[in-house]
Order: sequence, then structure tokens, then C-alpha cells
Amino acid sequence: MKNISVIGSGTMGNGIAQTFALFNFNVKLYDINSENLKKGEQTILKNLQRMVNKEKITESEAENSVGNIEYTSDFNSILNADLVIEVVSENFKLKKSIFKELDLKCPKNTIIASNTSSISITKLAEATTRKDKVIGMHFMNPVPIMKLVEVINSKYTSKETTDMIITLSEQLEKIPLVVNDFPGFISNRILMPMINEAIESLDQGVADVKNIDGIMKLGMGHPMGPLQLADLIGLDVCKSILEVMLDGLKNPKYRPNKLLIELVNNGKLGIKSGEGFYDYSDSKKAEFVSKRFS
Ligand SMILES: NC(=O)c1ccc[n+]([C@@H]2O[C@H](COP(=O)([O-])OP(=O)(O)OC[C@H]3O[C@@H](n4cnc5c(N)ncnc54)[C@H](O)[C@@H]3O)[C@@H](O)[C@H]2O)c1
Repeated sequence: MKNISVIGSGTMGNGIAQTFALFNFNVKLYDINSENLKKGEQTILKNLQRMVNKEKITESEAENSVGNIEYTSDFNSILNADLVIEVVSENFKLKKSIFKELDLKCPKNTIIASNTSSISITKLAEATTRKDKVIGMHFMNPVPIMKLVEVINSKYTSKETTDMIITLSEQLEKIPLVVNDFPGFISNRILMPMINEAIESLDQGVADVKNIDGIMKLGMGHPMGPLQLADLIGLDVCKSILEVMLDGLKNPKYRPNKLLIELVNNGKLGIKSGEGFYDYSDSKKAEFVSKRFS
């Protein structure tokens, strides 16, 4: 595999593009929203510079990575790829329509992957005529740093496709772990109820934001509190994942807490919107992320 296309340049898409570029793949990063595409490019440049400053990569590796990424708003220009990874908002209808279009327009051997946090890979595969070549490739946030790729087999994914994605993940120096296709897979099935419970505790006045996060960090050894983590993931993303699990697993314990819904309705989405459970001015935001991941 050499040519990788990434659809969506938000929180996850720009990190995925950056990671492939660093390992010398030819990357095309596409977003329907040109402002978001520009933001994605700025984030990549800033993150590469930060890696140079921390001596994690050399100046020339950063320059090389920059040269490996083409930013585009032209959907047709991304189709000729070995792998297309869909990284758009957590919405089944949207993802399904993209999978349908990719299936119609990409070469027959192109693998189509989704970075979805919770949506059925089997249902996405059913929107295509290449069900064996559809797979979940779930990177963790922030992508350049986190080692895990949760690889999700649909009921149709071929062994050949899974093996290719495992090899590819290893080429990115990630650790792929394979799971079956259930709502929320493993990572979010276990993480999201904890985040939702932390929000419920805040809503009921059990403790304030800092103490909830502090208790989970100091008492459980978590590197980051659940409310901080929710802000990093995006509160809209957390809400969507819980809704997919509620719908798919039919258990009321996955119902998003009303405070989470209220914050999302008020545009408070966490780090990406500047406010969530914490308030992020630009400098605070940088400090928050670098403290956690240095
Ligand atoms: N945020 C996280 O921590 C995290 C972690 C793992 C997986 N995910 C999953 O990754 C996916 C993306 O999440 P995110 O947090 O990056 O979202 P985001 O809101 O930051 O970015 C989504 C991007 O998709 C773009 N987009 C929307 N419709 C599009 C279309 N039709 N064509 C092209 N681009 C389109 C938007 O303009 C936006 O830039 C979701 O499925 C989410 O569940 C998120």
C-alpha cells in the first residue's frame, strides 16, 4: 500500500493523515468544508513543529511529511487509492452515502475503512459491492501519539483485508488489536459508560469537574480524568457514540446524560469549540494537550 486517502480533516482525520505522511505514504486529505480543511492543515503543521521541538523527529522528516500530504476539496481526486479511510462525523446516514459513492467510483481493489467509534461496519459494508474489502480501522486520539488501532472485522471482512490492515498499522508503528463488530466495539463500550457516569455525577452535584477528574486520576491511575477526556474527544462525538450504543445494544444505561445533551445543544463541544467541561483559551488548550501527552 502506498496511496492513502483520508475523508474528513477534523480532530481525527488530520492526525491520521499526519501519521501516514510521517511514515512516507502518499496522502490525500479531503474535507467537504474548506475552512475545516485549512484548520486541519494548520494543526498538522503545528504538530509536526512540536515534534521537531521535542526532538521526536528531525526537521527534514517534518518537511518530508509536509510534502507527502495533498489537501483537496475535490472528491474525485482522492478515489485512486489503495486505501480510503472515512473519518467524517459519527453519523450512519452520512457514512453510508460516502461508502456507496466510494464503492461506485474507486478501483475494485481499493480497501474502504472507517474510523467510526461505534457504527456497524457490517452495515457500512452492505452499502457496497465489495463487502470483503470493508473494515474498521479505529485510531485513538491523538493519533500521532496513541499506539492502538482497534481493527474491526465486519461479518464479511476477508482474512486478506484484515491481514493487510494489521500489516499497515504495524508499518505506522501502531499496535493493531482485532475485535468483532458490536456497537462501540471494545474501546467505547467500556469508555463511554464511564464518561457518561462522570457527567451524571457532575449533574447530580456529587463533586465538581476538577474533583471528579482528580479522583479518577489520583485514585485509579488514569492519565486523564473522564471529563477532560470527553473534552478531548468532543462532546458531540461522545453523545453520538452513546446514541449508537443505546440504539444498537438496547440498554438504557447507554442513554446520554441530559447535561451532555445540553452542552452539545449550546455548541460547547470541548477543546475543538473552545469550551466544554473546561474553558480553553488557545494557550490553555496547548498547555492541556502537551501536559497530558509529553
Ligand atoms: N474525536 C475522537 O476522539 C475520536 C476518536 C476515535 C474515533 N473517532 C471517530 O472519528 C470520526 C471523526 O470524528 P472527529 O472527532 O474527527 O470529528 P470532527 O467533527 O472533528 O471532524 C469531522 C470532519 O468531517 C468533515 N465532514 C463532514 N461531512 C463530510 C463529507 N460529506 N465529506 C467530507 N468531509 C466531511 C467535517 O467538515 C469535519 O471536518 C467519527 O466517526 C468519530 O466517531 C473520533
